[in-house]
Amino acid sequence: MAPKHLWERLRIVLLAAFLQTPVIFGTYVDPKVLDACSGYRATNVKNSGATLTADLLLNGQGCNIFGQDIKKLSLKVVYETDSRIHVKIIDAAATRFEVPETIVPRPAVGSVGTDSSAIQFNYTASPFSFSIYRTASREVLFSTATHPLIFEPQYLRVKTTLPSNPNIYGLGEHTHPFHLPTDNTTLTLWSRDAYGIPVGTNLYGNHPVYFEHRTTGTHGVFLLNANGMDIKLTKEGSASSLEYNVIGGVLDFYFLAGSTTDPTAVARQYAEVVGRPAEVPYWSFGLHQCRFGYKDFVDVAGVISNYASSGIPLETMWTDIDYMDRRRVFTIDPDYFPIKRMREIVDYLHAHDQKYIVMTDPAVAYLPGDTYGAYNRGTQLDIWVKAANGSASLGLVWPGKYIQFLYAHWFHPKVGEYWNKEFDLFYNPKTGLDIDGVWIDMNEPASFCELPCTNPFEQAVQQKLPPPRSSPPPKPDTPIFVQSSPGKTKRDDILNPPYAINNAAGPLSGKTAFTDSKHANGLTEYDAHNLYGTMMSTATYKAMLARRPGKRTFVITRSTYAGAGKEVGKWLGDNLSLWEHYRISIAGMLGFASIYQIPMVGSDICGFGADTTENLCARWAMLGAFYPFMRNHNQDTSISQEFYRWASVTQAAKNTLDIRYRLIDYIYTAFHQANLDGTPVLHPLWFKYPKDTTTFSIDLQFFYGDSLLVSPVTQDDSTSVTFYLPRDIFYDFATLAPVKGTGAPVTLNNVSFTQIPLHIKGGSVLPLRAKSAMTTTELRKRDFEFIVAPGTDGTASGSLYIDDGESIKQTSTTSLKLVFRNGRLSVQGVFGYQSNVKTSRVRFLGVATLPNNVQVNGKAVAKGAYAYDRSKQVLDVTVGLPLTAPFNVEYS
Ligand code: NOJ
Repeated sequence: MAPKHLWERLRIVLLAAFLQTPVIFGTYVDPKVLDACSGYRATNVKNSGATLTADLLLNGQGCNIFGQDIKKLSLKVVYETDSRIHVKIIDAAATRFEVPETIVPRPAVGSVGTDSSAIQFNYTASPFSFSIYRTASREVLFSTATHPLIFEPQYLRVKTTLPSNPNIYGLGEHTHPFHLPTDNTTLTLWSRDAYGIPVGTNLYGNHPVYFEHRTTGTHGVFLLNANGMDIKLTKEGSASSLEYNVIGGVLDFYFLAGSTTDPTAVARQYAEVVGRPAEVPYWSFGLHQCRFGYKDFVDVAGVISNYASSGIPLETMWTDIDYMDRRRVFTIDPDYFPIKRMREIVDYLHAHDQKYIVMTDPAVAYLPGDTYGAYNRGTQLDIWVKAANGSASLGLVWPGKYIQFLYAHWFHPKVGEYWNKEFDLFYNPKTGLDIDGVWIDMNEPASFCELPCTNPFEQAVQQKLPPPRSSPPPKPDTPIFVQSSPGKTKRDDILNPPYAINNAAGPLSGKTAFTDSKHANGLTEYDAHNLYGTMMSTATYKAMLARRPGKRTFVITRSTYAGAGKEVGKWLGDNLSLWEHYRISIAGMLGFASIYQIPMVGSDICGFGADTTENLCARWAMLGAFYPFMRNHNQDTSISQEFYRWASVTQAAKNTLDIRYRLIDYIYTAFHQANLDGTPVLHPLWFKYPKDTTTFSIDLQFFYGDSLLVSPVTQDDSTSVTFYLPRDIFYDFATLAPVKGTGAPVTLNNVSFTQIPLHIKGGSVLPLRAKSAMTTTELRKRDFEFIVAPGTDGTASGSLYIDDGESIKQTSTTSLKLVFRNGRLSVQGVFGYQSNVKTSRVRFLGVATLPNNVQVNGKAVAKGAYAYDRSKQVLDVTVGLPLTAPFNVEYS
């Protein structure tokens, strides 16, 4: 055993080392060369207060670095709300690609005066530059001064100066720390099937937004552009800079003022632009179990029974591509996963209040002349994307050769009809399989084959692929500062653009569709690539709405663009069973849940690739209980890792699932709030302690909802953890005893592999179910209790939202404010939803002395109905009132 184990560890370490080494493919440009460009001059400036327009005329011949500078641009600046300025720069003469309104509907514009705006736009006419500054303090937040604007057909460059050690968050998807390294970091946005999620490479999603935090406030910058780009963060003497290098589209910036006191304000302002997250079904917070490699229906049924017999709640069973007939989407394997037996499984799950989710890939197998319905119906509607020469655009993925289901299809007038029809036929209890949610994958879109295909299997399909490129790729040392002669127009090269972004898959078309593929609406893949996953998400969301009218949908995708959270959740892709990936999952999740407005997020618990270990899986089960989306998933070649496989992991999962389930209404309330106004569901520590500079770089701890600080053990195989407690009062979640935070690290030793340190932030009232359950349906029948955790000022507050957990339109809801002050908790609000449960008790924390008098609704409580624990300072009061009317509980 030992040698095998050692070899396996060594293999993982080597694989990790390989994957963590950034590969540089991009173009290096000396910043001095770019800064020496002569830029533009603003003329014909018209300023009506809330709107400013101008022409930007090229100074001299321009730079012509990666093509010819566009001679005339149009600038439009609009103060859209008191906290948002929209700055847009386009080619004055030609229409260029812009993110379609169907993907990011443009936000409503108020009538705002510059006086009331929290931020201001300022510009210098020549060379044209602009800045954004805070109205009250005149603090500059963004300034392009000394960095001339460059606007060429395939290269746009905007650069801002930043403070010396800026606190920048966002610009994902990546596996850098949450607090971005700003000394020579390049963030590349170009969707990629990124097995092993290597640091420093482009991954699946694209979110060109950042929040910058300073002790003076937090603001945000969103560039609404979906073309490939490199965003460079560089240290420059005593300052730093952030530089956008974009290979297409327009410059469409939204500057968000944020707030000088509350960092979460900028998240709400960003949600106004890209949309607020979807309201999700209550059941989706239960535990999800998946794997690639369940062999057959017996295997799947076995997992369901094993969870039940081990006493670990399982809400949802998933099946990966294994269930498909030869890995073809919308089919089922007749031998290994026969429909009759799969229906039995789904019926069993439903009878036990559990759910079923399956994989739906975007690639449809290319099978002319075959009886494959999904191919034939799509062909009849002619919805397949075309290669540049007009033939079908093919790639290679699970089923072998396939027709890529490209973005153009999603814009094709008939694509909705097609996708809905396939869902209607296949995900149908009568004609196919009933499902409760969908998992969509490979939607970067991914292709295993990089032409020319090199292995024999790939060669076998090569003749079906588009013809090889007409010209070979440029050599790595091709000079890049060769100036094209002024006046002569250079044709766009959309396969190998002159500025090469740092795509870890090499050329733009590496391991994906060819960027010269044509879409139904005339777009090329060059422009549409980064939107593919979101387009597929929308179509899938709509198809599920059609299948289950009136019900909230649950769709988990791999590739996302800004605003995808309106319709779907996201998992963090193909991580490995490594401690490093356990740790980095927190930063990844914080990006989506606290910045990108996609809060239903989590990574593959226990790791996807390679073999997990008992200790890692135990720790990960516990951390994963505080991911909004909690799913155990792994690869077909890895050992089994369901939580019941090891005693310690079983116990770890049970302990934390007990806490997670009791807190589902608390996190559900946070999701409801996010849906109302974009308030984040998870919080990095600096959101709560914006003046405490130590918190700015913490990404191994986070707040789950507003009040629960999660501080997992993070070192490999360790049983001790050192974490940070800001200057504040906290309460240990396990004992409920007060813990004073002093703004210093705290070390806990002997943290067993079945425990995770959790603290309640002083100032919170937590609503919990009094007891956990094996399913969320059962959980909803449990009574509530409230934990009152006073802050340093002796007060606390919280909220609780309850509805039926699944309908899009709710007829009656309960929405409560939980307020504690002067020894009295009052629970008030609207009690519309008939939950048929009670408030069983209220637990007051930090009660220093035994109270003389305890009352519920003004009536003294008998001695036996309350209990006081002096050592923990906890007062428990039995309440027993139905949750149908306001009440209060007090002590003195
Ligand atoms: C890639 C996905 O990232 C992974 O989660 C899945 O198991 C495989 N595709 C197979 O479908």
